[in-house]
Amino acid sequence: MLLYKASVFIHILSAMFWMGGMLFTIFVIVPSLKHPQLNPSRGDFFTIMGKYFSNISWALFIILLITGYYQLTYRGYSWEILITSKFWHSHFGFILAHKLIYFALMLIVSGIHDFWLGPKTAMLIQQQPDSATTTRYRKLTRRIGQVNFIFGLLIVYYALSLVRG
Ligand code: HEM
Repeated sequence: MLLYKASVFIHILSAMFWMGGMLFTIFVIVPSLKHPQLNPSRGDFFTIMGKYFSNISWALFIILLITGYYQLTYRGYSWEILITSKFWHSHFGFILAHKLIYFALMLIVSGIHDFWLGPKTAMLIQQQPDSATTTRYRKLTRRIGQVNFIFGLLIVYYALSLVRG
C-alpha cells in the first residue's frame, strides 16, 4: 500500500510538473519575453530554457509510464489481463485507452516540438527576427505547443475519469 501511494504521489507530482511547466511558459514566460528589456535575447532564452524543460519533460514521461503501469498492476490489471480484448472493452479499459492514445499523440507532438520546430524557431528568432520565415515558424511552433497543451488537458480529464468513472 505504501509503495502504491508513493507511486500515485510521484505520478501526480510529475503530471503537475509537466502541466504546470506548460502553463507557466504560456502565461508567464512568453508575456515576460515581450518586455523590451528581454525581447532581444528571446531566441537564446528559448534555446536554453527549451532544452532544460524538454529534458525534464521526457524524464517525466518515462516516470509517468512506469508509475502508471505499476498502478495498473496494483489495481489487479496484470500484463496478462491488459493484453486481452475483454479488458479494453470494459469501462476502465475504454477510458484507459483514451488516456493512452492521447499520451501517444502527445509524445509524437512533443517530439516534433522539442527536437525540430522549437530549436529551429529559436535559432531563426535569434538570427533573422523580422523575416517572413521566422514569423511562419513562430506561428507553427506556437500552434504545436497549444495542441500539446490540449492533449495534456485531455489526458488529465481521462486520468480523473479513470479513478472516478
Ligand atoms: C502525460 C501523461 C500522464 C498524465 C498527465 C497523467 C495524469 C494522471 C493524474 C492527474 C492522475 C490522478 C487522477 C486522480 O486521482 O483523479 C493519474 C492517475 C492514474 N494514471 Fe496517469 N497520467 C499520465 C500517464 C499515465 C500512463 C502512461 C499510465 C499507464 C501506463 C497511467 C495510468 C494511471 C493510473 C492507473 C492512474 C490511477 C491511479 C490510482 O489511483 O490507482 N497514467 N494520472
